[in-house]
Amino acid sequence: MTVQDDSHAAAVAERTEKRWATISVIVIVALVLLATFAGLHQATMPQGRVETIDPTRLHLAGEFVESNLGTATEPDGSVTVRAIGQQYSFTPACILVPAQTPIMLRATSADVIHGILIQGTNVNTMLVPGYVSEQFMRFEKTGEHLMPCQEFCSFGHEGMWGKVKVIDKAEFAARAKNGGRLSCVGE
Ligand code: CUA
Repeated sequence: MTVQDDSHAAAVAERTEKRWATISVIVIVALVLLATFAGLHQATMPQGRVETIDPTRLHLAGEFVESNLGTATEPDGSVTVRAIGQQYSFTPACILVPAQTPIMLRATSADVIHGILIQGTNVNTMLVPGYVSEQFMRFEKTGEHLMPCQEFCSFGHEGMWGKVKVIDKAEFAARAKNGGRLSCVGE
């Protein structure tokens, strides 16, 4: 190769490198803009669904009065569990549910942030005072699950445990026949 060929090849290489460097800078700038837009958009838009509740009045009226806590069979046949967390227990302390049934958990806190975790399942939600937490759950097998508080809620946190008892669908239906709210407290 001649000296001229060499310098020509070098010029081509330099142009190619510059072109690809420009492209990579454009890609990086585009990604940064996209991330900035997504972050700002998420921060400025309200969440899709937020349900608020006055934590100081739970025991006085509304969905979370003590007589309404526990497991309810709704008019449409679906099952709803309503529970509250407070320092340092859950009400009800033992949640009774039917197996092989779609269940909606609705829960909130009467004081500070607690968490509900049902061991051996993917149920794990925070209970934030002022907000209703909703989580769908379904248990295939009968049996018992421990339900520890999953957010540090002060010195009694380690002792804050509940239980979930999953019973046969037919057995649950028989117990639910008379209406009211079911739980397994004291069983
Ligand atoms: Cu309640 Cu930790």
